[in-house]
Amino acid sequence: MGICLSARIKAESPCNTGVDSKYVSLDVNDLGSTSSKYSVPQTPRSEGEILQSSNVRSFTLGDLKMATRNFRPDSVLGEGGFGSVFKGWIDENSFVATKPGTGIVIAVKKLNKDSFQGHREWLAEVNYLGQLSHPHLVKLIGYCLEDEHRLLVYEFMPRGSLENHLFRRGSYFQPLSWSLRLKVALGAAKGLAFLHSAETKVIYRDFKTSNILLDSNYNAKLSDFGLAKDGPTGDKSHVSTRVMGTYGYAAPEYLATGHLTAKSDVYSFGVVLLEMLSGRRAVDKNRPSGEHNLVEWAKPYLANKRKIFRILDNRIEGQYSMDAAFKSATLALRCLSAESKFRPNMDEVVTALEELQVPNGTQSNASSGPRARRRSADDASSRRNTAADDPNSKRNTIAYPRPSASPLYT
Ligand SMILES: Nc1ncnc2c1ncn2[C@@H]1O[C@H](COP(=O)(O)OP(=O)(O)O)[C@@H](O)[C@H]1O
Ligand SMILES: [Mg+2]
Repeated sequence: MGICLSARIKAESPCNTGVDSKYVSLDVNDLGSTSSKYSVPQTPRSEGEILQSSNVRSFTLGDLKMATRNFRPDSVLGEGGFGSVFKGWIDENSFVATKPGTGIVIAVKKLNKDSFQGHREWLAEVNYLGQLSHPHLVKLIGYCLEDEHRLLVYEFMPRGSLENHLFRRGSYFQPLSWSLRLKVALGAAKGLAFLHSAETKVIYRDFKTSNILLDSNYNAKLSDFGLAKDGPTGDKSHVSTRVMGTYGYAAPEYLATGHLTAKSDVYSFGVVLLEMLSGRRAVDKNRPSGEHNLVEWAKPYLANKRKIFRILDNRIEGQYSMDAAFKSATLALRCLSAESKFRPNMDEVVTALEELQVPNGTQSNASSGPRARRRSADDASSRRNTAADDPNSKRNTIAYPRPSASPLYT
């Protein structure tokens, strides 16, 4: 497949052309602080410009074949709409493939040749992750562009995705404790807040549990920038786009109009927060009718202090105070406001979550306040759901097609 070097990744967005040519350089060495050091050009860049970005490295297909031992099936870390992600090893300094267990560990995403998410999404990832650097964004080490092959090389995230921790059952994935859920929620919120900040102004557009990765200390990092877009500039209120995303996570006004704003991400954050509180997937066709859509089912319970326990994950029962449970449910409800203007911005979400953090973030019990211990709506059906939620079980492979980003038509 030939490559058009003048392709512009934002051609899809009519509101995004011809804006000012602000280009502020990045300080990639400063990972400790938040938004002000980082910025992203607000003009469309050509493919050549994006790929020459000094922060990422170009690998050959041969390099990555060696690093992943020819993309061995037993080194698959995960799969998404783009393709499969493999574990590999390279030397820290020379970036040459090393023996497994030596050098640094990398994650290599390989585009499926028949994937509808193609070159444009690959380029969007190089564009954004190649420029943006933040403790709550995954680090892109490099890419490979060779003939029809498209690959991305990231830092390895040892604890995998939040999706696995919330929804996989098995000896490796123990249920995340309440305090770890709050820690992960805060980390992911900081990542989004950084993207939305005045200097960066990026809309992530595919916020969901499989795109939130965890390091060894459960620090959350956003990955998968294939659908990210520059936010509106000047006096524009939104960006007009084709509706892309994942069922169950997309904001209602975005689905209805294609008008994308940072508040669309806030809605998706509310869905993920609700998944973390309830231990239920955003969309789950295996639930009884009336419970397929998590938001629709949970909303009536969220605002009522006596009823929120019915939606809370019974696997973390007894770990939270009533006050913390109510505050986090209220935060989720605000993020899920049908009208975007009633949703908080991500800075407000970060502040609210900071106030809820449990000291010594890894302990499993809440530190203060009366413990909540009620029967949740899942108690009666927990055995059935345990089997159904297990993506390793055969039944589940059919029942749970892994949700991945796709065009959403209404
Ligand atoms: N850097 C990484 N470290 C560890 N696991 C990863 C990494 N990147 C991706 N994965 C795994 O692969 C899955 C798919 O990756 P993702 O980037 O979301 O692909 P897609 O663009 O196809 O959706 C993730 O949900 C996660 O389980
Ligand atoms: Mg993904």
